[in-house]
Amino acid sequence: MSVWLSYAALAVLFVLVCTALFFFTLTRGALLLRGVMGQLTHDAAHVYPIYSSMGLIRLIDYQPIIAAILLFQYSRLVSVITHGLRCSDLRGQAVLITSCAFGNIMPKVAQAAVDAGAARVLVSDLIQNELDHAQTKLHSYRDKTVYLQQNAINMAQTDGSVAANVMFFLLHELPHPLKHQAIREAIRVLAPGGRLYLAEFHRPSLWVLCALSWTYFKVFEPYGLSLWDAHDPVRQLSQIGGLTCERHTVFFGNFQVIVATKSVSTGFQGTTPQPNYG
Ligand SMILES: C[S@@+](CC[C@H](N)C(=O)[O-])C[C@H]1O[C@@H](n2cnc3c(N)ncnc32)[C@H](O)[C@@H]1O
Repeated sequence: MSVWLSYAALAVLFVLVCTALFFFTLTRGALLLRGVMGQLTHDAAHVYPIYSSMGLIRLIDYQPIIAAILLFQYSRLVSVITHGLRCSDLRGQAVLITSCAFGNIMPKVAQAAVDAGAARVLVSDLIQNELDHAQTKLHSYRDKTVYLQQNAINMAQTDGSVAANVMFFLLHELPHPLKHQAIREAIRVLAPGGRLYLAEFHRPSLWVLCALSWTYFKVFEPYGLSLWDAHDPVRQLSQIGGLTCERHTVFFGNFQVIVATKSVSTGFQGTTPQPNYG
């Protein structure tokens, strides 16, 4: 019996190590390799292969896998966002999803936006494969959805053109200087009274979770740890001004959803970029 238990433990360990190696190769490992090869200069240099290769996107984008990566808090985080959207009056307005995400968040956001009266759901991402994949999940909303290949740090939308903007776990993947630019853009495109829903990692309150989370970021996601302090999104949003922020934390503070509402008489000074739909 104990021999079988040892085999089972070894098998579990083997699967865990292989999974960790697989994700390391396709996240941090790929960034390290690009650095060595001097390929970190183009716009999408920080994007992991799991978001750029269609084969990998299809391989990984399964709800149980995505739920497990977010420690089974995915649905809770999504429901904070969809509840907020449903409680808003979005009649005739546009809702923006700034960068695609795995799992069912995009159809859930689209449904909540449509239920609240939104006329259009704009789905934007830097990577065309992600947009193509998103279309397969959003075919029920095809008369309301528009797909835009664009960079979150330089959006084509005019100032104040969307009533809500959803940014789901994008910031922790952006190099530090881009985090603030992406937040500024997210706020610039919001209409007065509009809301940004920003889901991200947060510093956990339990020391054991803190240690595990710290290790996870150091190994897999080098740009994520600074969200705990130096690049805390609420701090960055308060520097912009003209916003009211609520922070909802879940799972011992390991995750957060920030709801930033743009004041009606906002002091935010945006600049409208030239459209660059390409
Ligand atoms: C939003 S994150 C989501 C990660 C999260 N683990 C998930 O899927 O639930 C990944 C997406 O962000 C996109 N992305 C990365 N950098 C971007 C940028 N600068 N502008 C727009 N989209 C970007 C990637 O192409 C990818 O589709």
